[in-house]
Amino acid sequence: MTAKPRHSRRSFIKLSSLSAGLLSFQPISAFVDPENKKPVVISTWNNSRANDAAWEILQSNGYALDAVEQGARIPEGNPKDTSVGYGGLPDREGIVTLDACIMDEKSNCGSVAFVQGYKHPISIARAVMEKTPHVMLVGKGAEQFAQANGFKKENLLTKESEKAWKDWLKKSEYKPYHDPGQHDTIGILALDINGRISGACTTSGMAYKMHGRVGDSPIIGAGLYVDGEIGAATATGVGEEMIRIAGSHTIVELMRQGRTPQQACEEAVMRVIKKRGETMAKELNVAFLALDIQGNIGAYSTTDTFEYTLTTPDHNHIVIRSASYFK
Ligand code: GLY
Repeated sequence: MTAKPRHSRRSFIKLSSLSAGLLSFQPISAFVDPENKKPVVISTWNNSRANDAAWEILQSNGYALDAVEQGARIPEGNPKDTSVGYGGLPDREGIVTLDACIMDEKSNCGSVAFVQGYKHPISIARAVMEKTPHVMLVGKGAEQFAQANGFKKENLLTKESEKAWKDWLKKSEYKPYHDPGQHDTIGILALDINGRISGACTTSGMAYKMHGRVGDSPIIGAGLYVDGEIGAATATGVGEEMIRIAGSHTIVELMRQGRTPQQACEEAVMRVIKKRGETMAKELNVAFLALDIQGNIGAYSTTDTFEYTLTTPDHNHIVIRSASYFK
Protein backbone atom coordinates (compact mmCIF):
# COMPACT_ATOMS: atom_id res chain seq x y z
CA MET A 1 0.00 0.00 0.00
CA THR A 2 1.32 3.42 -0.88
CA ALA A 3 1.36 6.06 1.83
CA LYS A 4 -0.72 9.14 1.15
CA PRO A 5 1.15 12.17 2.39
CA ARG A 6 -1.14 14.89 3.61
CA HIS A 7 1.23 17.77 3.39
CA SER A 8 2.23 20.11 0.67
CA ARG A 9 5.91 20.11 -0.17
CA ARG A 10 6.08 23.81 0.44
CA SER A 11 4.61 23.81 3.87
CA PHE A 12 7.10 23.24 6.56
CA ILE A 13 6.94 24.18 10.14
CA LYS A 14 9.97 25.33 11.97
CA LEU A 15 8.94 24.46 15.48
CA SER A 16 12.20 25.83 16.73
CA SER A 17 11.03 29.30 15.84
CA LEU A 18 7.99 28.95 18.05
CA SER A 19 7.99 29.46 21.77
CA ALA A 20 11.07 28.40 23.67
CA GLY A 21 8.92 26.17 25.88
CA LEU A 22 7.56 24.20 22.97
CA LEU A 23 10.91 24.03 21.44
CA SER A 24 13.17 23.03 24.22
CA PHE A 25 12.06 19.45 23.96
CA GLN A 26 8.91 17.73 22.83
CA PRO A 27 8.59 13.98 23.27
CA ILE A 28 8.74 12.25 19.94
CA SER A 29 5.25 10.86 20.60
CA ALA A 30 4.03 14.40 20.04
CA PHE A 31 5.07 14.18 16.41
CA VAL A 32 4.59 10.61 15.31
CA ASP A 33 1.25 8.86 14.99
CA PRO A 34 1.86 5.37 16.38
CA GLU A 35 -0.51 3.89 13.80
CA ASN A 36 1.02 5.60 10.82
CA LYS A 37 4.79 5.74 11.09
CA LYS A 38 5.88 4.52 7.68
CA PRO A 39 7.41 5.84 5.60
CA VAL A 40 9.57 8.18 7.62
CA VAL A 41 12.66 10.23 6.89
CA ILE A 42 14.75 12.05 9.43
CA SER A 43 17.83 14.19 8.87
CA THR A 44 20.24 16.16 10.96
CA TRP A 45 19.78 19.95 11.20
CA ASN A 46 17.28 21.96 9.20
CA ASN A 47 17.41 19.90 6.04
CA SER A 48 13.83 20.17 4.81
CA ARG A 49 14.88 20.25 1.16
CA ALA A 50 16.82 17.03 1.65
CA ASN A 51 13.74 15.47 3.27
CA ASP A 52 11.69 16.74 0.34
CA ALA A 53 13.90 14.88 -2.12
CA ALA A 54 13.78 11.73 -0.01
CA TRP A 55 10.02 12.04 0.44
CA GLU A 56 9.44 12.18 -3.31
CA ILE A 57 10.83 8.66 -3.46
CA LEU A 58 9.29 7.32 -0.27
CA GLN A 59 5.77 8.51 -1.06
CA SER A 60 5.79 6.70 -4.37
CA ASN A 61 6.59 3.39 -2.73
CA GLY A 62 10.32 3.83 -3.41
CA TYR A 63 13.35 2.34 -1.78
CA ALA A 64 14.82 3.88 1.38
CA LEU A 65 18.33 3.63 -0.08
CA ASP A 66 17.37 5.77 -3.07
CA ALA A 67 15.63 8.19 -0.72
CA VAL A 68 18.67 8.77 1.51
CA GLU A 69 21.02 9.12 -1.46
CA GLN A 70 18.79 11.68 -3.17
CA GLY A 71 18.27 13.49 0.12
CA ALA A 72 22.00 13.71 0.82
CA ARG A 73 22.68 15.07 -2.67
CA ILE A 74 20.67 18.21 -1.91
CA PRO A 75 23.06 19.84 0.60
CA GLU A 76 26.00 18.38 -1.34
CA GLY A 77 24.93 20.46 -4.35
CA ASN A 78 24.06 23.59 -2.37
CA PRO A 79 26.91 26.14 -2.46
CA LYS A 80 25.40 27.91 0.55
CA ASP A 81 25.79 24.87 2.76
CA THR A 82 29.31 25.35 4.05
CA SER A 83 29.82 21.97 5.67
CA VAL A 84 28.74 19.59 2.93
CA GLY A 85 29.84 19.10 -0.69
CA TYR A 86 30.07 22.06 -3.07
CA GLY A 87 30.73 25.22 -1.03
CA GLY A 88 32.02 23.23 1.94
CA LEU A 89 34.67 25.09 3.89
CA PRO A 90 38.16 23.90 2.99
CA ASP A 91 40.94 22.52 5.14
CA ARG A 92 43.77 24.72 6.40
CA GLU A 93 45.50 24.44 3.00
CA GLY A 94 42.41 25.82 1.27
CA ILE A 95 41.44 22.44 -0.21
CA VAL A 96 37.89 21.07 0.00
CA THR A 97 37.99 17.39 0.94
CA LEU A 98 34.80 15.37 1.29
CA ASP A 99 33.73 12.26 3.21
CA ALA A 100 30.55 10.21 2.85
CA CYS A 101 29.03 6.80 3.42
CA ILE A 102 25.81 4.95 2.72
CA MET A 103 24.33 1.72 4.09
CA ASP A 104 21.25 -0.40 3.36
CA GLU A 105 19.07 -2.79 5.32
CA LYS A 106 21.19 -5.80 4.34
CA SER A 107 24.38 -4.21 5.70
CA ASN A 108 25.68 -3.46 2.23
CA CYS A 109 27.73 -0.32 2.61
CA GLY A 110 30.03 1.98 0.71
CA SER A 111 32.24 4.85 1.74
CA VAL A 112 34.66 7.43 0.41
CA ALA A 113 36.99 9.70 2.34
CA PHE A 114 39.36 12.57 1.58
CA VAL A 115 37.89 12.98 -1.89
CA GLN A 116 38.65 16.16 -3.82
CA GLY A 117 36.83 17.63 -6.83
CA TYR A 118 33.61 15.64 -6.83
CA LYS A 119 30.39 17.27 -5.69
CA HIS A 120 28.44 14.14 -4.78
CA PRO A 121 30.56 11.83 -2.66
CA ILE A 122 27.40 10.07 -1.47
CA SER A 123 26.80 8.74 -4.98
CA ILE A 124 30.43 7.71 -5.30
CA ALA A 125 30.04 5.86 -1.98
CA ARG A 126 26.98 4.09 -3.37
CA ALA A 127 28.94 3.14 -6.48
CA VAL A 128 31.72 1.73 -4.27
CA MET A 129 29.06 -0.33 -2.51
CA GLU A 130 27.43 -1.59 -5.68
CA LYS A 131 30.31 -1.91 -8.11
CA THR A 132 33.30 -3.04 -6.06
CA PRO A 133 33.98 -5.84 -3.57
CA HIS A 134 35.16 -3.16 -1.11
CA VAL A 135 33.56 -0.86 1.42
CA MET A 136 35.86 2.14 1.45
CA LEU A 137 38.00 4.04 -1.04
CA VAL A 138 40.01 7.10 -0.07
CA GLY A 139 41.86 10.00 -1.67
CA LYS A 140 43.32 9.51 -5.13
CA GLY A 141 41.97 5.99 -5.39
CA ALA A 142 38.43 7.20 -4.73
CA GLU A 143 38.90 9.99 -7.27
CA GLN A 144 40.18 7.58 -9.92
CA PHE A 145 37.19 5.36 -9.24
CA ALA A 146 34.85 8.36 -9.53
CA GLN A 147 36.35 9.39 -12.84
CA ALA A 148 36.19 5.86 -14.21
CA ASN A 149 32.52 5.71 -13.25
CA GLY A 150 31.52 8.90 -15.00
CA PHE A 151 31.40 11.37 -12.11
CA LYS A 152 32.23 14.90 -13.19
CA LYS A 153 35.31 16.59 -11.74
CA GLU A 154 34.76 20.20 -10.68
CA ASN A 155 36.08 22.96 -8.47
CA LEU A 156 34.22 22.85 -5.16
CA LEU A 157 35.73 25.92 -3.53
CA THR A 158 33.23 28.76 -3.94
CA LYS A 159 34.31 32.40 -3.76
CA GLU A 160 32.52 32.70 -0.41
CA SER A 161 34.28 29.69 1.08
CA GLU A 162 37.63 30.88 -0.25
CA LYS A 163 37.08 34.27 1.34
CA ALA A 164 36.10 32.67 4.65
CA TRP A 165 39.28 30.57 4.55
CA LYS A 166 41.44 33.62 3.76
CA ASP A 167 39.86 35.46 6.68
CA TRP A 168 40.54 32.49 8.88
CA LEU A 169 44.18 32.44 7.73
CA LYS A 170 44.74 35.88 9.23
CA LYS A 171 44.57 34.32 12.69
CA SER A 172 44.78 30.63 11.80
CA GLU A 173 43.15 29.72 15.08
CA TYR A 174 42.60 25.99 15.08
CA LYS A 175 39.64 25.16 17.27
CA PRO A 176 38.55 21.67 16.37
CA TYR A 177 36.43 21.35 19.48
CA HIS A 178 34.08 24.26 19.29
CA ASP A 179 32.42 25.27 16.10
CA PRO A 180 28.72 24.46 16.38
CA GLY A 181 27.88 26.98 13.70
CA GLN A 182 30.12 25.24 11.21
CA HIS A 183 29.25 21.68 11.96
CA ASP A 184 26.24 20.58 10.08
CA THR A 185 27.09 17.33 8.46
CA ILE A 186 23.95 15.74 7.06
CA GLY A 187 23.04 12.32 8.34
CA ILE A 188 19.77 11.08 6.86
CA LEU A 189 17.83 7.93 7.77
CA ALA A 190 14.75 6.56 6.03
CA LEU A 191 12.30 3.72 6.52
CA ASP A 192 10.24 2.94 3.46
CA ILE A 193 6.69 1.64 3.23
CA ASN A 194 8.04 -1.90 2.82
CA GLY A 195 10.01 -1.68 6.06
CA ARG A 196 13.43 -1.31 4.46
CA ILE A 197 15.74 1.04 6.34
CA SER A 198 18.79 2.88 5.00
CA GLY A 199 21.10 5.72 5.91
CA ALA A 200 23.53 8.19 4.36
CA CYS A 201 26.00 10.62 5.84
CA THR A 202 28.03 13.27 3.97
CA THR A 203 30.27 16.16 4.98
CA SER A 204 33.17 18.42 4.12
CA GLY A 205 34.25 17.81 7.69
CA MET A 206 35.58 20.24 10.20
CA ALA A 207 36.32 23.66 8.74
CA TYR A 208 40.05 24.39 8.37
CA LYS A 209 40.94 20.89 9.51
CA MET A 210 44.46 19.52 9.08
CA HIS A 211 45.04 18.34 5.53
CA GLY A 212 44.26 14.63 5.49
CA ARG A 213 41.99 14.70 8.54
CA VAL A 214 38.99 12.39 8.21
CA GLY A 215 36.12 12.46 10.70
CA ASP A 216 33.34 10.06 11.55
CA SER A 217 31.09 10.63 8.54
CA PRO A 218 32.61 8.03 6.18
CA ILE A 219 33.32 5.54 8.98
CA ILE A 220 30.71 2.79 9.08
CA GLY A 221 29.76 2.42 12.75
CA ALA A 222 30.82 5.94 13.73
CA GLY A 223 28.94 8.45 11.53
CA LEU A 224 26.37 5.92 10.33
CA TYR A 225 25.18 2.41 11.04
CA VAL A 226 22.20 0.44 9.76
CA ASP A 227 20.91 -2.98 10.75
CA GLY A 228 17.82 -4.07 8.84
CA GLU A 229 16.51 -6.07 11.82
CA ILE A 230 16.93 -3.30 14.38
CA GLY A 231 17.27 0.23 13.03
CA ALA A 232 19.78 2.91 12.12
CA ALA A 233 21.72 5.76 13.66
CA THR A 234 23.75 8.69 12.40
CA ALA A 235 25.82 11.47 13.88
CA THR A 236 26.85 15.08 13.45
CA GLY A 237 29.40 17.19 15.25
CA VAL A 238 33.00 16.64 16.26
CA GLY A 239 33.74 13.39 14.46
CA GLU A 240 36.66 12.35 16.65
CA GLU A 241 34.19 11.80 19.50
CA MET A 242 31.87 9.57 17.48
CA ILE A 243 34.80 7.49 16.30
CA ARG A 244 36.07 7.11 19.87
CA ILE A 245 32.84 5.42 20.96
CA ALA A 246 31.82 3.88 17.60
CA GLY A 247 28.73 6.00 18.21
CA SER A 248 26.23 4.94 15.55
CA HIS A 249 27.00 1.25 15.98
CA THR A 250 26.75 1.64 19.74
CA ILE A 251 23.26 3.11 19.37
CA VAL A 252 22.04 0.31 17.11
CA GLU A 253 23.43 -2.28 19.52
CA LEU A 254 21.72 -0.56 22.46
CA MET A 255 18.44 -0.67 20.52
CA ARG A 256 19.06 -4.38 19.91
CA GLN A 257 19.29 -4.79 23.67
CA GLY A 258 15.89 -3.15 24.11
CA ARG A 259 16.59 0.57 24.50
CA THR A 260 14.30 2.92 22.63
CA PRO A 261 16.01 5.08 19.98
CA GLN A 262 15.80 8.01 22.41
CA GLN A 263 17.36 6.07 25.28
CA ALA A 264 20.08 4.74 22.99
CA CYS A 265 21.01 8.24 21.74
CA GLU A 266 21.13 9.52 25.31
CA GLU A 267 23.36 6.66 26.41
CA ALA A 268 25.79 7.30 23.54
CA VAL A 269 26.04 11.01 24.40
CA MET A 270 26.56 10.13 28.06
CA ARG A 271 29.40 7.86 27.04
CA VAL A 272 31.14 10.79 25.32
CA ILE A 273 30.56 12.98 28.37
CA LYS A 274 31.87 10.31 30.72
CA LYS A 275 35.01 9.79 28.67
CA ARG A 276 35.75 13.48 28.19
CA GLY A 277 34.48 14.91 31.46
CA GLU A 278 31.86 17.63 31.70
CA THR A 279 34.24 20.57 31.30
CA MET A 280 35.58 19.39 27.98
CA ALA A 281 32.31 17.84 26.80
CA LYS A 282 30.58 21.21 27.18
CA GLU A 283 32.77 22.47 24.35
CA LEU A 284 31.98 19.51 22.13
CA ASN A 285 29.19 19.54 19.65
CA VAL A 286 28.13 15.88 19.42
CA ALA A 287 24.66 14.79 18.32
CA PHE A 288 22.98 11.54 17.35
CA LEU A 289 19.78 10.63 15.54
CA ALA A 290 18.25 7.15 15.55
CA LEU A 291 15.35 5.40 13.86
CA ASP A 292 14.16 1.88 14.59
CA ILE A 293 12.41 -0.41 12.17
CA GLN A 294 9.06 0.29 13.81
CA GLY A 295 9.50 3.95 12.86
CA ASN A 296 10.31 5.27 16.35
CA ILE A 297 12.90 8.00 16.46
CA GLY A 298 15.37 9.41 18.95
CA ALA A 299 17.72 12.39 19.12
CA TYR A 300 20.12 13.68 21.72
CA SER A 301 23.10 16.00 21.79
CA THR A 302 25.67 17.45 24.11
CA THR A 303 24.81 21.09 23.44
CA ASP A 304 21.41 22.69 22.92
CA THR A 305 22.13 23.84 19.37
CA PHE A 306 21.17 20.65 17.58
CA GLU A 307 17.98 20.37 15.57
CA TYR A 308 16.71 17.80 13.12
CA THR A 309 14.08 17.51 10.42
CA LEU A 310 11.37 14.85 10.53
CA THR A 311 8.92 13.90 7.80
CA THR A 312 6.19 11.28 8.28
CA PRO A 313 2.92 10.53 6.49
CA ASP A 314 1.13 12.77 8.98
CA HIS A 315 3.56 15.60 9.13
CA ASN A 316 5.18 18.28 7.13
CA HIS A 317 8.87 18.68 7.51
CA ILE A 318 9.09 19.49 11.16
CA VAL A 319 12.29 20.98 12.43
CA ILE A 320 12.63 19.93 16.05
CA ARG A 321 15.11 21.14 18.60
CA SER A 322 16.79 18.12 20.13
CA ALA A 323 16.98 17.43 23.82
CA SER A 324 20.52 17.90 25.09
CA TYR A 325 22.67 17.25 28.12
CA PHE A 326 23.89 20.83 28.47
CA LYS A 327 21.23 23.53 28.33
N1 GLY B 1 31.05 14.95 11.77
C1 GLY B 1 31.83 15.38 10.70
C2 GLY B 1 33.24 15.48 10.96
O1 GLY B 1 33.66 15.57 12.09
O2 GLY B 1 33.99 15.50 10.01
